Amino acid sequence: MVCTEFNIEEAKERLKEQLNEERYNHSIGTMETAMELADILHLDKNKAQIAGLLHDCAKCYPNDKLLKIIHDELTDVQDSELVNYKTLHAPVSAYIAKQDFGVTDPEILSAIRWHTLGKVEMSDFEKMIFLADKIEKNRHNEEFRNECLTLVTLKNGLSLAMFRCYQETIKSLIDRKLAICHVTISVYNDLLASSKLAEQQNEG
Ligand SMILES: [Fe+2]
Ligand SMILES: [Fe+2]
Repeated sequence: MVCTEFNIEEAKERLKEQLNEERYNHSIGTMETAMELADILHLDKNKAQIAGLLHDCAKCYPNDKLLKIIHDELTDVQDSELVNYKTLHAPVSAYIAKQDFGVTDPEILSAIRWHTLGKVEMSDFEKMIFLADKIEKNRHNEEFRNECLTLVTLKNGLSLAMFRCYQETIKSLIDRKLAICHVTISVYNDLLASSKLAEQQNEG
């Protein structure tokens, strides 16, 4: 599929049937923020729009359906990823984006795949979608959204904003007494190193 041929309006209609209203609005918000970030970061805005819109396309599936698709269709999901059910929709959303929405672009599919847990050494495009999901306007955390939008304008700002996201994610997991996947800890440590480097670059 050539991304310019992707029909956004048609995808929105189909998505509306698969998500509840809150999740649909969040998807639109993520799409808009992804496009805003793509402008700031000089990344592909068309692909950002598609990835942002579809990143949660399987979010409203029941857990047994998510687990069945992971078991039957996906080979790259590790047992450690199954610790927290809230993250299961990410690999399945990438699968549905490809199977049902016809997305074949590997960068879009990978960004959807990793938008919940993240991974060590994410591409800028993957980081951008991860970030858009966390700071879109329907999340009602305007202060944090503005902080991240300011950070991304700095040198290596994407690393700085991602680090802030991981800080908040880990704090929230602890507050809610949820398990922290070891991947999350590894990504946090990776981002800690790159954000320290970025801070030095911006100071110097
Ligand atoms: Fe999600
Ligand atoms: Fe999301």
